[in-house]
Amino acid sequence: MKIETAERAKSRQAELGQFLTSPRVAEFMASMFGPVPPVVRLLDAGAGAGALTTALVKRLCAGDDGVRRIEATLHEVDPDMLDALFAAMHECERLCAEADIQFAFTVHADDFIQEMSARLSDELLGMTSPAFDVAIANPPYRKISTDSAERRALHSVGIETSNLYTGFIALIQRMLVPGGQIVGITPRSFCNGPYFRPFREDFLSQMELCRLHVFESRQAAFRADAVLQENVIFHAVKGRNQPEKVTISTSSGEEGDFVTKAVHSFAEIVHPRDVEHFIHIPSTVSHVTAKATMDGLSCSLASLGVTVSTGRVVDFRLKSALRMAPERGTVPLLYPCHFNGGTVHWPKPEARKPNAILANDETRPWLVPSGIYLLTKRFTSKEERRRLVACLFDPAQVKAEWVGFENHLNYFHSDGHGLERNLALGLFAFLNSTVVDQYFRRFSGHTQVNATDLRALAYPDHDTLQAMGRDLNAPDLAQDKLDQLVAQHLHASR
Ligand SMILES: C[S@@+](CC[C@H](N)C(=O)[O-])C[C@H]1O[C@@H](n2cnc3c(N)ncnc32)[C@H](O)[C@@H]1O
Repeated sequence: MKIETAERAKSRQAELGQFLTSPRVAEFMASMFGPVPPVVRLLDAGAGAGALTTALVKRLCAGDDGVRRIEATLHEVDPDMLDALFAAMHECERLCAEADIQFAFTVHADDFIQEMSARLSDELLGMTSPAFDVAIANPPYRKISTDSAERRALHSVGIETSNLYTGFIALIQRMLVPGGQIVGITPRSFCNGPYFRPFREDFLSQMELCRLHVFESRQAAFRADAVLQENVIFHAVKGRNQPEKVTISTSSGEEGDFVTKAVHSFAEIVHPRDVEHFIHIPSTVSHVTAKATMDGLSCSLASLGVTVSTGRVVDFRLKSALRMAPERGTVPLLYPCHFNGGTVHWPKPEARKPNAILANDETRPWLVPSGIYLLTKRFTSKEERRRLVACLFDPAQVKAEWVGFENHLNYFHSDGHGLERNLALGLFAFLNSTVVDQYFRRFSGHTQVNATDLRALAYPDHDTLQAMGRDLNAPDLAQDKLDQLVAQHLHASR
């Protein structure tokens, strides 16, 4: 018997991307295939203990697919998995015999990437590669560096990708016959990660995307200890014309859960003019994803040394100190009307609100020393695109020793003083991201965002926020840019 320490087992598990699919998720994946031919040539790459093939065989044996024969081809590189894999295949033989279906299987105890890249290279030289009607996959995921053997093998057949899982999928899609189908469970990163653009282009040019499924809980698909990523299950068919409609479904991932489905036009999922070919998973699902992303964050605002307070100037209580225009002895007074696309526009003579407040002994307790502050509106109108709108108050733009923030604003500060610039910019990016906006919408049906809501939010850690701020460099509200930046840094910090 092979004795392995828990630590070694873990590092091997990480090296081989060995996160096995539960029978429940495997059964769900098997249910996602469309009609199959009477003789099914099935590919299971990175087969592990055979859970996926077993689930599909069970579905085909159960009945209405009219299948006469199944020819399963399985690739698994880890010799320690093979006993379990063979046992699963013998069970499939038994199930098929009972259902009067012929079953044949071949296990390749080899490296799928090397093996299939070599076969495809041979094909370029005129030899034929194996062809499959159906592929079911939970490929291993791990970054592959530019000088790795995997990257070189993939490059030799024209596949450029930086992760093992996209390498697997790109190879599998090439092995499918026209009309052949794949159901795969993978990390969701390929949908919008900037490094996955070549993969998206390649995939969408060969495969018709029929359905995407996401789980509400990050833990749902795999055992709790093995979960690092948000997953997506997709069903795609080999062909060049994208379908008009794509089904987006979601479920809790718990036992006996309920699957919610919605049909969207393909143009909503991949915007026709988007050069990045981002794969959008629409709103109800992005709520779910937002929750999963937020659940992965662990810092409180307090642990970042940051506080959020409601603006101290209650204007009707300090009426006699308010001025419509700045004058000698006054300091800037900021209202939401001074928000101007990520920064403040002050003074605003045309505004109906005062622009200034006298700075004297009476008003001083309600003012703050000038510095970099992040401001959010407490109330947004229903028509506003975003529930949360954050903007940067920068003393380089509004010169004054003191400043008043009116009570319809919340301001982020450090113990009553301004924030360090990159931290403030990082918070700016995070709070203006779609993830945070969607997250707020999930639990807050109204348009008010109070300081307590902002205090209760989980935040990225200090270093991640600073890195986001450094990359952003200046307040910019371009949504795709912000979302990409936030996703990239949150991903890198995991
Ligand atoms: C994420 S697991 C999934 C296993 C199984 N398909 C399932 O769903 O339970 C990926 C599997 O791929 C195997 N694997 C990793 N790298 C491989 C490679 N280059 N070629 C073939 N198999 C590989 C791992 O040993 C692991 O069993």
